[in-house]
Amino acid sequence: MTGSNASYQTVTRPYGKAAIDEAAALIRQGHPIAIPTETVYGLAADATNPEAVARIYAAKGRPSFNPLIVHIPDLAAAEALAMFDDTAHALAAAFWPGPLTIVAPLRPDAPIASIATAGLGTIALRCPAHEAMQALLRVSGRPLAAPSANASGRISPTRAEHVSASLDGRIPLIVDAGATAQGIESTIVAPADGVVRLLRPGPITPEQITAAAGFPVTTAASGAIEAPGQLASHYAPAKPVRLNATEARDNEWLIGFGPIAGDASLSPQGDLVEAAARLFDLLHQADGSNRTAIAIAPVPHHGLGVAINDRLARAAA
Ligand code: TXA
Ligand code: MG
Repeated sequence: MTGSNASYQTVTRPYGKAAIDEAAALIRQGHPIAIPTETVYGLAADATNPEAVARIYAAKGRPSFNPLIVHIPDLAAAEALAMFDDTAHALAAAFWPGPLTIVAPLRPDAPIASIATAGLGTIALRCPAHEAMQALLRVSGRPLAAPSANASGRISPTRAEHVSASLDGRIPLIVDAGATAQGIESTIVAPADGVVRLLRPGPITPEQITAAAGFPVTTAASGAIEAPGQLASHYAPAKPVRLNATEARDNEWLIGFGPIAGDASLSPQGDLVEAAARLFDLLHQADGSNRTAIAIAPVPHHGLGVAINDRLARAAA
């Protein structure tokens, strides 16, 4: 179950207590599983376990890391992870549980894996209405990172059959509760300093958000709605970054991989799941060190290595 090419025998179970118990056990063991929400089927993993979140990317074959939406069962669970202002409270009161995702400052002590937030100081939180996802959140007892349950570049799944057509052999379990109600991903908003920015349009409309917040929702400066992920500028190191380094030069802090040990290693065994899981933590560590620059050992360009190298290329740009 290590490595980036982990394969599974995928089983589909009808939604019910047995399926949720099985799904919760897999979640606690660090595996990603597919489960419906009211929008689309999600590929859920324990957001507190970095290797579990890395396995979402391995299963999707996603070529880059985005910050993921973290699902929680209620407002109290959200407030344990993030700081909600008055506007965030008003929006949660109006639309949760339901297809609205709220971006808020991450609590410094929140036990969320840095790969789930792409190293950002904020977190996107969603309290889903679907009873299957609610049951999994409560039985597993974990916040669940969950993008749509499709391979990268394929359309979002609204039925269990779409998930199996896309991810068969890449995940252990699909919980089948029939077609989803909404069919498009949740609306994403970022309330801060008396404004609400719409980051992704979805089932909850700008008019509904404006009515609940008490003031108009804003979009990009141009007036256009911002593309998904666009505002989520990933964590970028402040120091210069040199790639494909086999040794540290001058005053560099070297991030190792495989045979290159470095000051700390993404994965001494060359395991790409482990490397993805540690990536953002090591970038923060290198950035916070007393050295003036960062060097990074080569990472093979296959499987999860494609997403790792995409992120490293951005860090070095
Ligand atoms: O309906 C949905 O929201 C589905 C179902 C499965 O719940 N989930 C979903 O999750 O679409 P995901 O992880 O694919 O959404 C990722 C998007 C990013 O591309 C970005 O737009 C936004 O969520 N996002 C996540 N964290 C963010 C942050 N800290 N700041 C700004 N945007 C963020
Ligand atoms: Mg998607």
